[in-house]
Amino acid sequence: MCTLYQVVSSHGVNIHLTMCWYPHKTAYRPLSPRPRLADLWAAEPKHALSFYAHIPFCEVRCGFCNLFTRIGAPDGLSTAYLDALDRQAARTAEALNAAPAAPGDEPHFAQAAFGGGTPTFLTADELVRLCDITERRLGVDLRAIPLSVEASPATATADRLAVLASRGATRLSLGVQSFVDAEARAAVRPQHRADVEAAIGRVRDARIPVLNLDLIYGIDGQTEASWRRSLDAALAFEPEELYLYPLYVRPLTGLGRRATAGGSDPVWDAQRLALYRQGRDHLLAHGYEQVSMRMFRRAASPQAGGTEYCCQTDGMVGLGCGARSYTSRLHYSFDYAVSTAEVRGIIDDYVARPAADFAYAEVGFAMTQDEARRRHLVQSLLQAEGLEVADYRRRFGSDPSDDFTAELIRLDERGWLVAATAQGGRIRLSPEGLAHSDAIGPAFFSTQVRAAMAAYETR
Ligand SMILES: C[S@@+](CC[C@H](N)C(=O)[O-])C[C@H]1O[C@@H](n2cnc3c(N)ncnc32)[C@H](O)[C@@H]1O
Ligand code: SF4
Repeated sequence: MCTLYQVVSSHGVNIHLTMCWYPHKTAYRPLSPRPRLADLWAAEPKHALSFYAHIPFCEVRCGFCNLFTRIGAPDGLSTAYLDALDRQAARTAEALNAAPAAPGDEPHFAQAAFGGGTPTFLTADELVRLCDITERRLGVDLRAIPLSVEASPATATADRLAVLASRGATRLSLGVQSFVDAEARAAVRPQHRADVEAAIGRVRDARIPVLNLDLIYGIDGQTEASWRRSLDAALAFEPEELYLYPLYVRPLTGLGRRATAGGSDPVWDAQRLALYRQGRDHLLAHGYEQVSMRMFRRAASPQAGGTEYCCQTDGMVGLGCGARSYTSRLHYSFDYAVSTAEVRGIIDDYVARPAADFAYAEVGFAMTQDEARRRHLVQSLLQAEGLEVADYRRRFGSDPSDDFTAELIRLDERGWLVAATAQGGRIRLSPEGLAHSDAIGPAFFSTQVRAAMAAYETR
């Protein structure tokens, strides 16, 4: 997960949307006629693809979470899901290999991730199968490339971690949210600190090179002192990475009752901003560097394929009903929903699909050159290192300050930009700009994306 955007839906409700990629899935629409994957991928560069498998199961449904996931997998659903994933992988491999490749551009995967939901909801044997499908069907050489896996403390068991480590996992990202039990309860995330710490110990024992811990600030009852306790508890394990997420409250989630009609809560926003600054300063003082508003990396830690650095790649091959795939001209996925009933319906539909269905893209968004510019600019700007102007020129043949004059002037007037010339040809957010990352994405949305997101009805 990367960046948050905020739009007002057709219900007049403020939707907070975390999104790694522009545009968000709420801007996707059914594709008619459905394009063939073989046609979509024919002319794409395929020498450095990213792979993503989405596992939409969790043991619990946390009060804050609107990710595409359901509680449990009854009646063999996880087996049926892996069966469907296998069928999808086979069709996807056919599509990637359909066109004769130019020498040196045979399909090759440069990074991989298993996300969710909770991939480690799968048993150790099921994780073996997931790795086998990925390697054998698609030819992803998991042991040769960075492989990042998301896990929850309760499911980060020694047997599952051993499978992941032996199959080449280089990064294990653990959702902690808070080391204070009362805060975990307030976030409707039932867990105990002792269990979280035991899980972190197991990850360290498994010797997966990069440990990431997710923490959330802005939880009901959280204070500067209790936030600091969580930060210090995390730092005690010297994780290679830490993600600090502001709490986002969205419609149809357990905490959704706090969503205010038509606007946000200024007091709460100010509290989260204060906690952000506190967290940032604390981590910077403890030898971490800031990669983006949310992501911090311990100095000299290896880069192991976290989601943040996947953002720039065009060629993304996603498997599973919650995964997105990207070609340079189309972003596509299956249907998207948040409510329990809708998510279950989409998963049930996915597992029932015959193999032939997986040869087509169903729901998506056409990427024009203008949208590609916006995407590149937003994603680069939201990284602490910013946008390299020469790289932008190379890609698009134009200058970002010509393409986005008004938007960049507005950011500059607010003190949120560091001038390009002063930064060796980079446009970077100032520390204040980085602190307001969530307000920056929407400034660059196209009219079309804005309208599609606003028309989207959360279900
Ligand atoms: C896929 S989960 C991580 C793995 C696992 N499912 C877990 O929760 O332990 C993704 C992460 O996104 C963050 N997240 C999800 N929804 C959020 C929200 N509404 N506000 C802030 N952070 C959120 C949480 O920190 C969570 O750990
Ligand atoms: S935060 Fe993680 S465990 Fe909780 S519902 Fe979301 S994906 Fe599942």
